[in-house]
Amino acid sequence: MQIDFTGRNVLVTGGTRGIGRGIVEAFLEAGARVAVNGSSRESTDKALGELAAGDQAVDAPGSVARSADCRAIVEAAAAALGGLDVVVNNAGVYEGFKTEETDDEAWDKVIDTNLKGVFFVTKYAVPHLRKSKGNIVNLSSVNAMVGLSAGAPYGASKAGVISLTRNHSIEFAPDIRVNAVCPGAIDSDMLRYLAVSKWGSVEAGYKVLGQGAAAMKRVGETREIAGPVLYLASDLASFVTGSIHVVDGGEVVD
Ligand SMILES: NC(=O)c1ccc[n+]([C@@H]2O[C@H](COP(=O)([O-])OP(=O)(O)OC[C@H]3O[C@@H](n4cnc5c(N)ncnc54)[C@H](OP(=O)(O)O)[C@@H]3O)[C@@H](O)[C@H]2O)c1
Repeated sequence: MQIDFTGRNVLVTGGTRGIGRGIVEAFLEAGARVAVNGSSRESTDKALGELAAGDQAVDAPGSVARSADCRAIVEAAAAALGGLDVVVNNAGVYEGFKTEETDDEAWDKVIDTNLKGVFFVTKYAVPHLRKSKGNIVNLSSVNAMVGLSAGAPYGASKAGVISLTRNHSIEFAPDIRVNAVCPGAIDSDMLRYLAVSKWGSVEAGYKVLGQGAAAMKRVGETREIAGPVLYLASDLASFVTGSIHVVDGGEVVD
């Protein structure tokens, strides 16, 4: 069954590449109009050119790590689309430093992008979503629940996203539903960086990471996260809020 988003307006942060790009493409296929956010005008324009979706896709560039940009991203999206029905807080960064190598700058980059960004995009989106009785889907990670040998700030930021999801689902009820998806290992620039930095090559890393998905024994694809995100954002999930959806090929059940 195809979920129909015709007439719905969606903002996807970090929609230029990877999982966010897969989510943008799925919403476009389902008939939504989509505001695509990337960290810069260049990356956002490049993605919009590649999407070639005409006025079905609009740009909302800016860094979610800065609260002033979060406001500008939301207002640009709402103005261009004529309102907001769904916000997907997807933008994120991973730094593979061990704790003893982590400085203030690395800590701030991860926490400001992954946690503060979700908070401030949400803050500015709430008035629009109250009007539309819309909803929010946040991208957390299995690393909110499972440790990594390097990158503790990343895991902490993603655990924080689960907390924001639970708090906001109560705070904004019953007007706005808020849910989270926790991906396991999904093919993207971020995962390739992790594979190379830890195991020396994408191929070697994906072999290990694929085995980590104990049930499916492979790395996932971006469209396999987009499906659950569209379900949560749709009316099929009208009684689903404050929930945390693990989509990891069986990693955390091992
Ligand atoms: N891939 C995985 O295995 C995996 C697993 C669990 C969770 N996740 C989460 O899923 C989300 C997407 O990850 P991914 O793997 O698709 O990452 P990715 O391939 O590295 O793409 C990251 C996206 O976030 C954007 N971004 C980065 N910093 C930003 C900022 N300050 N402001 C606005 N946008 C920014 C990038 O935009 P630019 O093009 O402008 O740089 C890009 O669109 C993240 O929240 C990540 O933590 C991923």
